[in-house]
Amino acid sequence: MRLIIEKNPESVAVWTAQYIAKFINRQFENAPDKPFVLGLPTGGTPLETYKELIKLNKQGEISFKNVITFNMDEYVGLPEDHPESYHTFMWQNFFNHIDIQPENVNILDGNAPDLLKECQDYEDKIKAVGGIDLFLCGVGANGHLAFNEPFSSLASRTRLKTITHQTRIDNSRFFGGKLEDVPRNALTVGVATVTDARHLLVLAVGENKALAVKMGIEGAYSHTWTISAIQAHPKALVVCDEKAIQELSARAVDYFRDIEDRIKKDIW
Ligand code: GLP
Repeated sequence: MRLIIEKNPESVAVWTAQYIAKFINRQFENAPDKPFVLGLPTGGTPLETYKELIKLNKQGEISFKNVITFNMDEYVGLPEDHPESYHTFMWQNFFNHIDIQPENVNILDGNAPDLLKECQDYEDKIKAVGGIDLFLCGVGANGHLAFNEPFSSLASRTRLKTITHQTRIDNSRFFGGKLEDVPRNALTVGVATVTDARHLLVLAVGENKALAVKMGIEGAYSHTWTISAIQAHPKALVVCDEKAIQELSARAVDYFRDIEDRIKKDIW
């Protein structure tokens, strides 16, 4: 695991967007025709990173023409064009502003007539394109990855999940503070769907995420904090601002700062 500590949310976004751009460009240099498969989150945290990626796309430093995306999750029962659906979020905040081909965008359909089939088809599609090269993730305050709430199996795959009361409260800020409007269920990739990706990049900013970061990095590998699944991944990168690391022990911070000073700052 690597931990990158940046000063604030803005520098986290700049670092992450540049990293993703370098990563995608490097793969295209080695295999120009092979699509790059990118896993993506929603939420407040990745918004700034999307803005930076849009900037890099407009400056011609990165192209998404040969990028296939898979989003992590979607609410169940919320119309696709609802302002808070993850479909709307992704198109408004990212896809509408870059040169991605619409047929390369994959987002779970929370209104599919057969939700189980929808989940299985999603897993099959990820497999059919050769797996995910890089999964960009956020993390919930309770350590959830996608909608894999505490006590979700670390071996889970894409499926229907109940959203916990706490996460509904956290997400109610996007629904005008109305808890009753926040859906109770979601379709989500599983923890193992995420950790199957060849590379992981987890974003965490703000003191609200400090405990999740601590438990993810130095807590036990346990379903009580599903973020801790990244500990068993060979190429997991966590990018935080200073507030998000405030619960980490000095020992952990020293270790990660030390290895960042020694290794050439490059793509894994
Ligand atoms: C939601 C999403 C997660 C996201 C989390 C944190 O519950 N399902 O994928 O990581 O919220 O969101 P935020 O970045 O807004 O704190």
